[in-house]
Amino acid sequence: MKETITKYLQEVESFKADNLEDLEHFRIKYLSKKGLIPDLFSRFREVAPEDRKEIGKMINDLKQAVQQKIVALKELLDQKSGPSKTDLDLTLPSGETIGTRHPLSLVRNEIIDIFSRIGFSVSEGPEIEDDFHNFSALNFPEEHPARDMQDTFFIEKDPDILLRTHTSSVQVRVMQKSQPPIRTLSPGRVFRNEAISARAHCIFHQVEGLYVDTAVSFASLKQTLYFFAREMFGKETKTRFRPSYFPFTEPSAEMDISCNICGGKGCNICKYTGWVEILGCGMVDPNVLESCDIDSHKFTGFAFGMGIERIAMLKYRVNDLRLYFENDIRFLQQFKRAF
Ligand code: PHE
Repeated sequence: MKETITKYLQEVESFKADNLEDLEHFRIKYLSKKGLIPDLFSRFREVAPEDRKEIGKMINDLKQAVQQKIVALKELLDQKSGPSKTDLDLTLPSGETIGTRHPLSLVRNEIIDIFSRIGFSVSEGPEIEDDFHNFSALNFPEEHPARDMQDTFFIEKDPDILLRTHTSSVQVRVMQKSQPPIRTLSPGRVFRNEAISARAHCIFHQVEGLYVDTAVSFASLKQTLYFFAREMFGKETKTRFRPSYFPFTEPSAEMDISCNICGGKGCNICKYTGWVEILGCGMVDPNVLESCDIDSHKFTGFAFGMGIERIAMLKYRVNDLRLYFENDIRFLQQFKRAF
């Protein structure tokens, strides 16, 4: 019997399988009910008691060798037949497929970086807002036509809940939670019910800023935004302020920069005026401060808000807003060097 087992063991060790079928035959030959190993176990009864220990061990070793062989060959055959979990090699170099930062992220980070150098910190808030934070606290009276300035997405079942139309809502939250001095920037995604075109989208991104303290003046506002424009678009950049209207600021203005494409000479981007609008701003209306429990006799503030898409369009000369949302790799890869 010992010789038989030794012979089987040699056979097992030298066995090779070309395919899964061969391997299955091998398994059946040794391990199936009528296979060679069960047969050895049934003949074990005939073994003389003094040999039992040795022969028992030999049969068990043989069985183990068969099982190990099956596992090893199966793995080998799987590898040959195509990719599987086990041949995923995470150490292989990934070639040219390294990602790039999205232009909107690049511009957002740059805006944050510029304002953080003059003491602004970043605050975030929910995209699904209530009427109070998006409108009422910001001095939009109920039924006031100013609410139509921003075509709002309301939640059908509860008109009190809406998708924020600007990140001024975050600044309301900051003012409610803290007392001046407040110097905060709120970057984020906003939503307006507008038809999608090259110049408008129903989703876009903003960075809004707020500074509340004692003795904050319109001069502080102008100087801060002038600093921003020069850092963002270059030292040659000029700014101008035009009167405007926002319910939450009084007085309100829009800021233009000298067209960074033609240097102010006139081109189709600035519609031959030499100026392009980049943001809205103004002195925080005392009603807004009071709605957030800040004493408007003691404190004043300025606020501003800009669209990141617009700044990125000017900076990178992108002429169609939709490109930002399509994630076309040919567009995105152009920002590789700006990483
Ligand atoms: N919230 C305004 C908007 O979304 C922008 C703005 C912010 C204007 C702060 C003035 C002051 O259009």
